[in-house]
Amino acid sequence: MPCQKSDELQRFVEEAKRYTKDGKVADYIPELGKANPGDLSIAINYPDGRCISAGDIDKKITLQSISKVISLALVLMERGYRYVFERVGMEPTGDPFNSIAKLETMPAKPLNPMINAGALVVTHMIKGDTVEDRFNRLLGFIRELADDSSIGYCENVARSEFESADLNRALCYFLKQHNIITEDVEPLLDLYTKQCAVEMNCLGLARIGMIFAMDGVDPLNGKRIMPDDVARICKTFMVTCGMYNASGEFAIKIGIPAKSGVSGGIMGAVPGKFGIGIFGPALDEKGNSVAGLKLLELLSKRYRLSMF
Ligand code: DON
Repeated sequence: MPCQKSDELQRFVEEAKRYTKDGKVADYIPELGKANPGDLSIAINYPDGRCISAGDIDKKITLQSISKVISLALVLMERGYRYVFERVGMEPTGDPFNSIAKLETMPAKPLNPMINAGALVVTHMIKGDTVEDRFNRLLGFIRELADDSSIGYCENVARSEFESADLNRALCYFLKQHNIITEDVEPLLDLYTKQCAVEMNCLGLARIGMIFAMDGVDPLNGKRIMPDDVARICKTFMVTCGMYNASGEFAIKIGIPAKSGVSGGIMGAVPGKFGIGIFGPALDEKGNSVAGLKLLELLSKRYRLSMF
């Protein structure tokens, strides 16, 4: 079903777009620095297959941290609850996404799977004999969630992050020293940077959000893509840690499970209702899309989307 342009969404996009000038595109991954800070687009995918959108929704974006929710779902399915949460915690940190601080002051186990340290441990848990095997397993799952077998990854972004990921390297070496990661660091970073570089457009993000919103079932054919418990755990992390050290404010102002990425993507899952995909690469100082957050705030107020 083609995605319909929506005049109402377009008005919200125009209002929120004014805030793009308050943000900056991420450039610590040099390739991401090439994005146009003025971009803003949104797609909403409903369980009956309908889709509405505004802005240039054909633009592809890399998932970055949005991928952390999906890798978590995969390892929960592959390894089970106990194995996963023996290695990564469940608590918000109140720290920036790439902080190393709490690893040393708390037990070395990362506090949650949405910060980089926790996500690296989650990626470490993806099963398979080689990086290629493990990446293909993750990619297959992403393609199934998005119902799009053409999804791949952006080699330039993956390489750009791999070559500049010294902070993530440091996190990995620290975690390896404490036996939380047991594989070599370079192949793990290769896998992680490919995971973060998986690319799709807003429609794909909205469709994946919709599957989480519908507790892991594809409502069009009734197929269960993940157990409802896994979808529930992922949505809970999206609420408590999805916006890092802005998660509390996000819960108050918007109040839906959502996950951001430094590419400017946001994936939202409005429980039982629909999925949202947003792309707005100008970021605030906490690494979240500045206009994307504004757009979600406008939508949440207008349609009373908050769960609380
Ligand atoms: O590991 C990193 O730094 C990036 N690949 C992902 C970080 C990210 O998207 C944080 N989100 N707002």
